[in-house]
Amino acid sequence: MFGLFSRVRGPVVCDDRLSHIAFIMDGNGRWARKRGLPREAGHARGARNLYRVMDACRARNVRIVTVYAFSTENWKRPQKEVDEIMKLLTSYLQSAYEDREKNETHVRVIGDTAALPEETQAMIDRLDRETAQYERVLNIALNYGGRQEIVHAVNTAIAAGKTTLTEQDISDALYTAPLPEPDLIIRTGGEMRLSNYLMWQSAYTELAFTKTLWPDFGAAELDEILKDFYKRHRRFGGL
Ligand code: FPP
Repeated sequence: MFGLFSRVRGPVVCDDRLSHIAFIMDGNGRWARKRGLPREAGHARGARNLYRVMDACRARNVRIVTVYAFSTENWKRPQKEVDEIMKLLTSYLQSAYEDREKNETHVRVIGDTAALPEETQAMIDRLDRETAQYERVLNIALNYGGRQEIVHAVNTAIAAGKTTLTEQDISDALYTAPLPEPDLIIRTGGEMRLSNYLMWQSAYTELAFTKTLWPDFGAAELDEILKDFYKRHRRFGGL
């Protein structure tokens, strides 16, 4: 049913025009620096904020959320910072597993997981398998790069015997398949770029940028962005 989003004081409740939101969770390091804390403290607050934002998305009927947790380029950061982000990720995966019946969310990891430690890969597979029955989805982009994903999709299609590819062949072989493309990408932290995120899937995605640093991003600002989204006229190349 297409109608205006319902807002009778309280959260914006999304309808089927908005089923998928992707976040670029930027600004953890600056959040920490402003407080004289090490960058790792910013990532810890950022990880904590993801629980809050997931609750807000659930309350707003957003079916699919994708978050950019670690890019293929993030390995260039100091080892201490990489280790801390990985620790936060595994602890997030662990609590997502423990809370799977409460959250009723299919948690998947998208990206080149083959580069991760074997026990992390096993954890990811188990979580994916044992939450696969849920309609609500959280994609965590980990060791993810949008161009790498396209190359991987092309190679997957070639390995399956294709010699000439269609757009559909590539879409079907993306890490995010068979999910719909994001309707909205929200980037916190003030930068106005996509940083190799969901390059194929974002062809017609609406974009929202906020200066708010990720650990400070919350439900009230999400509602403002959702209200703005619903004012936009998406044409998908048509009139
Ligand atoms: C960008 O902020 C953030 C990252 C590269 C990592 C995001 C990681 C988390 C939110 C924590 C772990 C994730 C999960 C899913 C539990 P930045 O470090 O580039 O910030 P800056 O631009 O202020 O330096």
